[in-house]
Amino acid sequence: MKILVVGGGAREHTLVWKLAQSSKAEEIYAAPGNAGTAQIAHNLGIKPNDIEGLAKTAKEKGIELVVVGPEVPLANGIVDHFQNTGIPIFGPTKKAAEIESSKVFAKELMQKYNIPCARSVSFSGYAQAKEYIKQQTPPVVVKADGLAAGKGVTVADSIPQALDTLSNTMEAKAFGAAGDRVIIEECLSGKEMSAFAFTDGKTVIPMVSACDYKPVFDGDCGPNTGGMGSYSPPHFYSPTLAEKVTETIMEPAVKAMAKEGRPYKGVLYGGLMITNNGPKVLEFNARFGDPESQVTLPLLKTDLVDILLAVINGNLDQINVEWSDDACVGVVMALAGYPGSYKTGFPITGLDNLDKDILVFHAGTKIGTEGQVLTSGGRVLTVVATGKTIAEAREKVYNNISRIRFEGGYYRKDIAEIKK
Ligand code: AMP
Ligand code: GLY
Repeated sequence: MKILVVGGGAREHTLVWKLAQSSKAEEIYAAPGNAGTAQIAHNLGIKPNDIEGLAKTAKEKGIELVVVGPEVPLANGIVDHFQNTGIPIFGPTKKAAEIESSKVFAKELMQKYNIPCARSVSFSGYAQAKEYIKQQTPPVVVKADGLAAGKGVTVADSIPQALDTLSNTMEAKAFGAAGDRVIIEECLSGKEMSAFAFTDGKTVIPMVSACDYKPVFDGDCGPNTGGMGSYSPPHFYSPTLAEKVTETIMEPAVKAMAKEGRPYKGVLYGGLMITNNGPKVLEFNARFGDPESQVTLPLLKTDLVDILLAVINGNLDQINVEWSDDACVGVVMALAGYPGSYKTGFPITGLDNLDKDILVFHAGTKIGTEGQVLTSGGRVLTVVATGKTIAEAREKVYNNISRIRFEGGYYRKDIAEIKK
């Protein structure tokens, strides 16, 4: 089977790596991929948002299965487009992907179907939103409705900060049309985690879950990033909690989407807060997580191609999805300055000097003119290890990561450090 993975981050490198282990995989393509995918797949010089370009090339190459990594092409209808051309594609349609691309839609869905989430009100008028915020007690959470590359949410500690955020979002249009509508919601406290499930629109099969570290500096300080590291499974994720998440969140959400005439197929990703009153949804995403994929897919024992095809064909009930009992830890190496500005184009050394069981998933890397691996983006790569315990996996990662060097290389030292 010829398979195309859309995207160029470490999540997509992990997908390519996992798919390459399938006996059904003959050739794998990545669009655009990175220096890591170039070693095990063919990189195509096509951007993930160039849906027509991707469809044309997929036809020419005889692609038989497409997997989409990032949210923007999903929100723009890449799945609908490929379905029209008859090429099997894994992911939700545009209408189903609205569970991520419109926070107002997701919120209305959760409220209508009693899926636990933060109390909130949505607004399309600036003046009304402003009045509402003035009546709240801080902290208060302000969310842009649409996709904002992870920057559309502010947990404001004061009313002036919330008003500033609102003005930035709705008046100054910091996130463009994504800020035409906003959600103002209560601030939840508890343990944050990401839950995932494969679904064909009927059957829901949980994946292992993970914790993600968004702030750039140790101790969760500094601005939010796309994610600086992750581990799986969360140390507090008991079988009872897992059951509750599946029964009160994932299954009801999939049922609700079907009822709304937006059958959801793909991976459903619940960003959750485990509060004293049980798990509640912060947001839904319509795809695999990044960096969570780097620590969940290595634990998958079942052939990923079989799962993806069963989701597409609507017979996921026929598949037994198995996971390793091991733990997995991934630490992101980024460039100093990220998530702000940074300098790229420097050689990466030490990749050939790592212990045998260490995995390195590339993100912002490219191959230089002399074949050397160079930095090309803010998050450069994720270093991953599995172990019998989180502590063992963590030790392996940190024993190896310091051997990888590049100009401006930076990583958090406290990923998967479990404080009792
Ligand atoms: P989101 O993009 O909705 O996941 O929000 C980004 C981050 O903001 C989350 O990872 C949480 O840390 C935080 N967040 C979002 N909504 C809430 C909430 N209602 N209460 C507390 N924190 C929140
Ligand atoms: N880990 C955050 C995300 O994938 O959106």
